[in-house]
Amino acid sequence: MAGQVDVIIGAQWGDEGKGRVVDALAGRMDVIVRYQGGANAGHTVIVGDEKHVFHLLPSGMLYSGKLCVIGNGVVVDPDQLLKELKELQEQGKDRACLVVSGAAHVVMPYHKVLDGLDEKFRGKDRQIGTTKRGIGPCYVDKYNRVGIRIEDLLDADVLREKLSFNLEIKNLVLSRVYDESPLAFDEIYEKALAWGRALAPYVDDASLVVDQALQEGKSILLEGAQGTLLDADHGTYPFVTSSHPTASGGCLGAGIGPTRIDRVIGIVKAYCTRVGDGPFPTEDHGEKGAYLRDKGGEFGATTGRPRRCGWLDMVALRYAVRVNGITAIALTKLDVLDGLDEIKICTAYEIDGKKQENFTGNSTVLSRVRPLYESLPGWSQRIDGCRSFEALPEAARNYVTYIEKATGVPVALIGVGPKREQTILRGL
Ligand code: GDP
Ligand code: IMO
Ligand code: MG
Repeated sequence: MAGQVDVIIGAQWGDEGKGRVVDALAGRMDVIVRYQGGANAGHTVIVGDEKHVFHLLPSGMLYSGKLCVIGNGVVVDPDQLLKELKELQEQGKDRACLVVSGAAHVVMPYHKVLDGLDEKFRGKDRQIGTTKRGIGPCYVDKYNRVGIRIEDLLDADVLREKLSFNLEIKNLVLSRVYDESPLAFDEIYEKALAWGRALAPYVDDASLVVDQALQEGKSILLEGAQGTLLDADHGTYPFVTSSHPTASGGCLGAGIGPTRIDRVIGIVKAYCTRVGDGPFPTEDHGEKGAYLRDKGGEFGATTGRPRRCGWLDMVALRYAVRVNGITAIALTKLDVLDGLDEIKICTAYEIDGKKQENFTGNSTVLSRVRPLYESLPGWSQRIDGCRSFEALPEAARNYVTYIEKATGVPVALIGVGPKREQTILRGL
């Protein structure tokens, strides 16, 4: 693994099981980097009987001797980060070393307030169904070049200047646009200074730290959040998140050049889910959708919202392979399909009577497509005890092989249950 750089990305609408795959691979890697998004993510790792949900901390935190990095592309809610750190410390499980990029932006209290108000203003027909973690408003400030970065929390004068400017505008928006009470400067300033004091030991030039690790021949795992179809450019705009969950976002958000990346591992759930609003061609509103939700425990790890469920969408998956350059697939939750007579796979769309094999991120068009399905036979056995590909029932192996043929990408890891050991490794 010396010098290896792998990117883990969600190939669908998030919640594919990135956390558990990072956990499965992190043991052999040296550095694990979160590169975009923020506490909108919820990455579940189950070790033994214990469940951890990471929102901001990289999912490699449970391994001793690892370096975990929060890259410049992440938007950091310090309260959430400190809470996660404290919980691990109290359990004696803060085994890895943590570095937080000084260039990462800070999710401020007004970002969270505005996230909720913006959604309310958009109303039922336009709402995105955000996680209300302040992600969109924070990235807006970043690209509007007024954001507050982690490094600013360490300089009381810079912080005072930046915060007072921001609060002046935000309070005008709050009071004049939304008819809400303005926020008090002193309270936020004191809170932000306290964040700075608590985070100071972790703050560093993350890009340089990662580069030094590479120079020493160490291996790096870039941990994406969200998924390809939530990417601000390549997703189902406007029903997307405000960052770049695709593999290219890994370079940008970790401060690493594209020539350094060796493998792009696309995490694919054996069926599809989506939480929040926006088109979802293969959504099943009937009993099969409910079956998948119940069996797969499809409730948001961040918001607890029920996830919308449906069938695997090959049109979308081929697109994810293309825009990410996926070199290996990690197929999760195959066990959730146990007991189904037939498994449907969408192979193409039909729109205005015409067959279409290419995905579109145009939500208006995508909401009108009709999925065309093929059916594969299901299997009745439980597969959660299988530890090799050969041990899987023939129909399950056929499903995996079908995905490999349709995408041209090997399925190199299979999840047959949520636990660390319920993983079949096939060449990763
Ligand atoms: P992430 O955001 O991509 O890390 O995924 P989440 O943690 O939000 O959601 C994935 C859910 O599926 C979690 O509850 C995991 O414990 C669970 N999970 C992951 N892989 C498998 C698997 O192979 N089988 C089953 N049954 N559950 C899994
Ligand atoms: P992980 O990393 C699934 C969705 C929200 C909403 C849209 C925009 O656990 O896979 P945002 O709060 O980002 O402005 O919301 O994106 N969303 C996710 N869906 N998994 C996630 O993260 C998500 N993070 C955001 O539901 O539709
Ligand atoms: Mg999740």
